[in-house]
Amino acid sequence: MKPNYAGSRLTGEKPPSCVLDFCLCTVGHRRGQTWVKLALMCSEPLPSFTQLPLNQILLGDCVQVLNSLPEKSVDLIFADPPYNLQLRQPLWRPNMTRVDAVDEVWDQFDSFQAYDEFSSNWLTACRRVLKDSGTIWVIGTYHNIFRIGKLMQDLGFWILNDVIWIKTNPMPNFRGVRFTNAHETLIWASKFKGAKYTFNHHAMKNLNEGLQMRSDWVLPICTGRERLRIDGQKAHSTQKPEALLYRVILSSSKPGDVVLDPFLGSGTTAVVAKKLHRHWVGIESDPYYVQVAQQRIAQVVPEPFDGQAFAVEGAKRLAPRVEFSRLLEAGLVRPGQRLFFMGDRSKAAQVKADGRLRLESGVEGSIHTLGKHLANGSPCNGWQHWYYQDSEGRMQPIDVLREQYRRLHKPCVQEEGEAEYW
Ligand SMILES: C[S@@+](CC[C@H](N)C(=O)[O-])C[C@H]1O[C@@H](n2cnc3c(N)ncnc32)[C@H](O)[C@@H]1O
Repeated sequence: MKPNYAGSRLTGEKPPSCVLDFCLCTVGHRRGQTWVKLALMCSEPLPSFTQLPLNQILLGDCVQVLNSLPEKSVDLIFADPPYNLQLRQPLWRPNMTRVDAVDEVWDQFDSFQAYDEFSSNWLTACRRVLKDSGTIWVIGTYHNIFRIGKLMQDLGFWILNDVIWIKTNPMPNFRGVRFTNAHETLIWASKFKGAKYTFNHHAMKNLNEGLQMRSDWVLPICTGRERLRIDGQKAHSTQKPEALLYRVILSSSKPGDVVLDPFLGSGTTAVVAKKLHRHWVGIESDPYYVQVAQQRIAQVVPEPFDGQAFAVEGAKRLAPRVEFSRLLEAGLVRPGQRLFFMGDRSKAAQVKADGRLRLESGVEGSIHTLGKHLANGSPCNGWQHWYYQDSEGRMQPIDVLREQYRRLHKPCVQEEGEAEYW
């Protein structure tokens, strides 16, 4: 093997595609003046793979690399493509410090037409490697996401959702000439209409404290310790937060699945995939970022795989918490009604209007504390220890009423198909 490429990030010169075995780099990165002293050790130009090269970064143009990968081999694609921001001049804050904006060569296209052609090419190449049961996520801003959405539909992808990532800490509009641009849009699509795909509905519900997860995700941008820096400068201008990828990967893949990112950048997708025990394949055209990502990914040591912990499909949802007083308000329990400890008629308590129980002795408390009192201080789950008499005279634990309440008061997010949009 011989070094066969020294890339220049200033000219935008593209390296030949290759499998990156290792690299010896001295890198520096300064705003407006990026310098890379690089000795990349590459194998010969990319071969055609009969099997996916798992858990590797492939250096090169994503279309070329994708076309070398086996057809229908990938379960999930996350793509964070160039935005085509068209930033031609530096952006300054009111205090005359320069904004760290995306002004790199990789984000520059001569025209919308050139951008569309580029987008259509990589989307087509992604679709080829995607399994029929696979899905793709594409993230973008108003600069590109509408064009990409149209192209995706034209290519046969079937849009499942558009998710809005609402940034809790967006960059202000420094010139004050527009609204603060505080969100990005993710398009989630299956390969074609009617395709079967993975969606870990219950897992996402559990992640969202028992409520169906909505399509607006409120998450901070990548800052603080998570943000990669080299010599105090951001290592990558558009590093995405791991929390965003966590939702993407957890919702739409299973452990052992293959997650591919055609624009790997600083490696966020691979890092989260590795933590969640998914295989990953990353493609990146800039050797500098390949090195940044490689070092970052190498530092991730996931907990050993345990099916109980990592497999979430079919997971039972956490039932939403219900307070006893909700049953009173809903009329499932009446003030003054008698409940019986462990179904024993000699241990009766009356339901007070405020949701507490009262023993004949005058001792009062919640279903749990009064139960503990009667159980001589042993822990007591009041839902299972207090009984009521149903309309047919049978003793039933009040947990039965709690389940009835849950059925009657499902969260107000509706299932698809019954949703009212307007
Ligand atoms: C928006 S950034 C992705 C950032 C990434 N999601 C992260 O969290 O760091 C897009 C990346 O795609 C790379 N890129 C641009 N054109 C490419 C191409 N044709 N093939 C492969 N990578 C490309 C750029 O070098 C850049 O690192």
